[in-house]
Amino acid sequence: METALLSPVTAAYLQLEEQYGAHNYHPLPVVLEKGESVFLWDVEGKRYYDFLSGYSAVNQGHCHPRIIESLIEQAKKLTLTSRAFHNNLLGKYEQFITEYFGYDKVLPMNTGVEGGETAIKLARRWAYAKKGVEENKAKIIFAEGNFWGRTLAAISSSTDPSSYHQFGPFMPGFELVPYNDLIALEKALQDPNVAAFMVEPIQGEAGVVIPDEGYLTKVRALCTQYNVLFIADEIQTGLARTGKMLACDHESVKPDILILGKALSGGVLPVSAVLADDFIMMNIKPGEHGSTYGGNPLACAVAMSALTVIKEEKLAENAEAMGQLLRNELSKLNSPYIKTIRGKGLLNAIVINHPNPEAAWDFCLILKEKGLLAKPTHGDKIRFAPPLVINEAQIMECVAIIAAALKDLS
Ligand SMILES: Cc1ncc(COP(=O)(O)O)c(C=O)c1O
Repeated sequence: METALLSPVTAAYLQLEEQYGAHNYHPLPVVLEKGESVFLWDVEGKRYYDFLSGYSAVNQGHCHPRIIESLIEQAKKLTLTSRAFHNNLLGKYEQFITEYFGYDKVLPMNTGVEGGETAIKLARRWAYAKKGVEENKAKIIFAEGNFWGRTLAAISSSTDPSSYHQFGPFMPGFELVPYNDLIALEKALQDPNVAAFMVEPIQGEAGVVIPDEGYLTKVRALCTQYNVLFIADEIQTGLARTGKMLACDHESVKPDILILGKALSGGVLPVSAVLADDFIMMNIKPGEHGSTYGGNPLACAVAMSALTVIKEEKLAENAEAMGQLLRNELSKLNSPYIKTIRGKGLLNAIVINHPNPEAAWDFCLILKEKGLLAKPTHGDKIRFAPPLVINEAQIMECVAIIAAALKDLS
């Protein structure tokens, strides 16, 4: 453990996790205890800009007062009934979110990966019930470089060895095509057993990989042409992160199945949702899918607030403007250590150019010292994804921190 330069207070927290927690993460050595808007504070009282936003779960900013108020008010009344009974908020939330996104129905779940699993079950069921695929023959196509979580199904579609190595055997019926490759996709979709193509409009975990303009439009057209469902995993890209409510809105395409999570609760508790029209959703009957916590009244109250905040505070518009500013200012730095700056809205990444393979990690440690928290992904890429409430002066301060950190990177 890298405790040598840490204060005894911080080192003690790290030691506890090291000793009693599974070592399935490699966090930056900072121990956080408070968050507000775009800021986080560590246990020693040091303030940081948050440039990760809990992997885009905290789009509305940390501890947004309106979301927290909904949480507290509802927590005092009723938190969980299970779906064995009705609760007074579920129908209201279902109406709210389906009208918000323009779908007939929603299936509420908790984590993002459960949303993905749910979408795939819906697609398989549709393939058997409606498309006429022979039972157990349905295929789902994914794009190489995808990330949709850590369950056995999710890692079965992964091309990242650190996700799947020594966790097999894997889920059958999954196939891969290269991302942003329409020729390969069209070839795959011609197989009559294909139920769905599940794809991120921008690949987040892969390092903010943006497909060519027109990709989503053509994906939509090909799926329609071959009678295949288009599943958009907008768990990271959705809810204003990329400068539109959904990343699919950049090309005005409507997926058959939309998966949302993360910022659906503003980072308050796990809430995910799968949206689809009746021709897909109504193939699932009582007892065929569910979750104890899915659709609980606490989640319903929080999600309605979280969605309301996104629209009322015009977070998509702000993400678009602040993202432009951030990328422009970063490119003006002309740093030899930055190979690439890319992104849409406030989902951005830089690729580090440095002979030392640990440079991105070292750079994040320097950023931390200077008061900005970011984390590398896949070695040389660093996501810059602050909460969407960030303002111009704050962006400029962050760019100054990044510029100073680049000077210290040798
Ligand atoms: C695009 C995408 N889908 C799904 C997930 C999984 O979400 P969760 O970690 O809530 O299960 C993630 C998480 O990073 C994601 O980025």
